[in-house]
Amino acid sequence: MSHAIEVKDLSVWYNVAGEPAIKHVNLTVDEGEFVLFVGRTGSGKSTLLNSINGVIPNIINAKLEGSVKIYGRDTRLMQLKELSTLVGTVYQTPEDQIFSLVVEDDVAFGPENLALPPDEIRKRVEDSLRLVGLLDRKKFPTFLLSGGQKQRLVIADALSMRPKVLILDEPTSMLDSLGTSEVFSTLKKLRDEYGMTILMAEHKVERVLGLVDRLILIYDKTVVIDKPIREALMEDLVMYGIEEPQVSYLYKQIGGSGKAPLTIEEFMKYETGFSEFSRGRQVALVDSPPKTLDPVVELNNVWFAYERSKEWVLKGTSFAVNKGEFVSLVGPNGSGKTTILRLIAGLQKPSQGEVRVMGKPTTKMSRKELSSFVGYVFQDPDQMLFNTTVLSEVEFTPRLMGLNAQAVRKKAIEILEEFGLLEYKNENPHRLSVGQRRLLSLASVLINEPKILLLDEPTRALDWETGEGVLKFVKRLVRDKGIGVIAVSHNMKQAADHSDRVIALYSGTVAAQGTPREVFMRAIENPNWSLVPPQVFQLSVALSIRPPAVKIDEIMPLVDEYKARAKAAGKA
Ligand SMILES: Nc1ncnc2c1ncn2[C@@H]1O[C@H](COP(=O)(O)OP(=O)(O)O)[C@@H](O)[C@H]1O
Ligand SMILES: [Mg+2]
Repeated sequence: MSHAIEVKDLSVWYNVAGEPAIKHVNLTVDEGEFVLFVGRTGSGKSTLLNSINGVIPNIINAKLEGSVKIYGRDTRLMQLKELSTLVGTVYQTPEDQIFSLVVEDDVAFGPENLALPPDEIRKRVEDSLRLVGLLDRKKFPTFLLSGGQKQRLVIADALSMRPKVLILDEPTSMLDSLGTSEVFSTLKKLRDEYGMTILMAEHKVERVLGLVDRLILIYDKTVVIDKPIREALMEDLVMYGIEEPQVSYLYKQIGGSGKAPLTIEEFMKYETGFSEFSRGRQVALVDSPPKTLDPVVELNNVWFAYERSKEWVLKGTSFAVNKGEFVSLVGPNGSGKTTILRLIAGLQKPSQGEVRVMGKPTTKMSRKELSSFVGYVFQDPDQMLFNTTVLSEVEFTPRLMGLNAQAVRKKAIEILEEFGLLEYKNENPHRLSVGQRRLLSLASVLINEPKILLLDEPTRALDWETGEGVLKFVKRLVRDKGIGVIAVSHNMKQAADHSDRVIALYSGTVAAQGTPREVFMRAIENPNWSLVPPQVFQLSVALSIRPPAVKIDEIMPLVDEYKARAKAAGKA
């Protein structure tokens, strides 16, 4: 039997005279496999996936050496139309792949192009929409779908061609946490119930653990790791800038071998020695109290409803954020997180109650005064980028405020350098990748040295190492310049690792606030908040370690002690 996909010694050049974008790639994928592709931004994942689906060289011009075969047939010898019935592809930005105004028309588009009989088209549209859970939205306008629904529609579009292989290139980078779950559960269904062959590039390793069979890591333009997922997790992924799930990391630290556990339950089964040793242990952990009580932002009993809507989004929300504090704002979709940022930035006014910035009610501040204190990085960078070059984008606000052009240029260059964007300074921002546009939107806010920084999911669409770099950079500003940060986050591991305090919203009010540990303890008693604490916290709770660790570092002393014991026992 031939493989579903067979890539042999593949190298691809966008620029024939220059370096290849990928080189000497060899891999095979069998029917029914779900393969995860990881690698830092620019490592070549998209180039590889686009060479497999034939977009390279059919649509994107490039030179290829080596071969790509799908079910034994060389893709370069096939027409695009034929390829589209073999491989369906889903990209990062769903809007770029939706062409019709009505959901069912969008799905029908491909089969219509195949000139199938109307009955067959109707059947395919229904089947595909049912698969992705959008059948009830058949007649719905596409532009009114949520991000997750749009991306599921794009999956339905691909499925309507009845492809043998589905390729997804960072399908959740533009989606919020809910949309991300929707897409992943659709993929699970496709795998479990239909045995679909799936290739997906994705940064969120921990979230797809139970989903994928194999991991392929691209580094330095070629395949470096290609192993079943449990064995791949035994490798040092951090060295390649890739997120490592906490349980597999711990398992390795303890000296575990063979296959890595994927869940807390598996960890406790695989690692009975450590689990017995640490069960019920007390650890010396103290949460540092807030450094200063010098609020830069205060919400006092804030109520808010959007115009024309009768529903309260915020129902008496109160909290303060202090100078030199990094606060994560967490909570389920629709709990009011972005609304709070908009109120603080003065883009909305509270219906009742008061928002104070630097001690002053925002209603008594001019737009200019408020924006001199508050920097707001939107969830969608494209709503913020409107200049024609990267450099002018960063310089825009300080120039507008009439600052010295030379001084502005110096700062702009520094900050572009910091975010790895300097080489693109003369490019149009819209030619950058999604991740780079996010970094640029952050740079163009940070150049104004705000006292309060509002971040809406700051690491979305960034590879793990870049995301960690951004958070560390922001933390330096918190420590060195004493700014106050409010970061909306769905990633509890990041919230635990980087914030001083967590504020959890639930249905328009503050459900809990405190150190990450305090909030996670409350969260496990209140599953309806849908906050899933980091794995290390869940493991600590399962082993009754007191207090439970929220960061990997906090559990390492126990690991070291256990290892020392084991070593001593081995010698005795
Ligand atoms: N259309 C293109 N034209 C020229 N260079 C490109 C093009 N697409 C990607 N590249 C370059 O190829 C390399 C690999 O990029 P890419 O395949 O997009 O990586 P990834 O998907 O892992 O982020 C990068 O150096 C990138 O700048
Ligand atoms: Mg890519």
